[in-house]
Amino acid sequence: MGKLTTVLVVFTMIIALRAAHGKSEGPKEVEDWWQNLNHAREKITKLRFYFHDFLQGKTPTTVRVAQAKMTDTSPTIFGEVNMMDDPLTVGPKITSELVGRAHGFYSSSSQEEIAYHCAINFVFGGGEYNGSSLSVLGYNPVMNVYREMPIVGGSGAFRLARGVATLTTYAFNFTQGSAIVEVNLVVLHY
Ligand SMILES: *[C@@H]1O[C@H](CO)[C@@H](O)[C@H](O)[C@H]1NC(C)=O
Ligand SMILES: *[C@@H]1O[C@H](CO)[C@@H](O)[C@H](O)[C@H]1NC(C)=O
Repeated sequence: MGKLTTVLVVFTMIIALRAAHGKSEGPKEVEDWWQNLNHAREKITKLRFYFHDFLQGKTPTTVRVAQAKMTDTSPTIFGEVNMMDDPLTVGPKITSELVGRAHGFYSSSSQEEIAYHCAINFVFGGGEYNGSSLSVLGYNPVMNVYREMPIVGGSGAFRLARGVATLTTYAFNFTQGSAIVEVNLVVLHY
């Protein structure tokens, strides 16, 4: 019994080690990982970081890629589609440690309020989650203090992830056209 427990612990550790790196793996490795899943235990990881959205200036990180004829006269900029590639940092200052990028798009999808449809991949670029990503898809009424969006999946260390993302605007500079958004994630993954 003791031996079996040890074996299982070692096995779980191997799975954890395997899952911990986000380097690209082929279908064979993914299948092996999948087959070992019933020995793996789901765990909870909490993450907090900030993304920096620069809409103007010499080096914008977000660009408008599409709009409708009515977009610019719409009070909710309905139909605007933006593509983002924002830096993720540990703290709210742009000079704090860079931990990844927020890739994706957000588009104005309401005619009643300023609310975006968001499809964002948080791609991690260092530490134990280097190369892993989390995908968030949801409703983002930007004027609300907190916006909750589902984590719909992930890759690498976050394969089969699910969870909740809470976004809150930390700072907004109208002159500069920039926003700093705090992101808190609670993730269930293997
Ligand atoms: C992340 O992984 C890439 C590819 O394996 C590697 O080149 C890079 O040095 C790693 N970055 C950090 C901060 O560990
Ligand atoms: C907003 O940006 C402008 C232009 O870069 C800058 O002068 C100003 O200090 C910023 N305001 C705040 C509150 O950071």
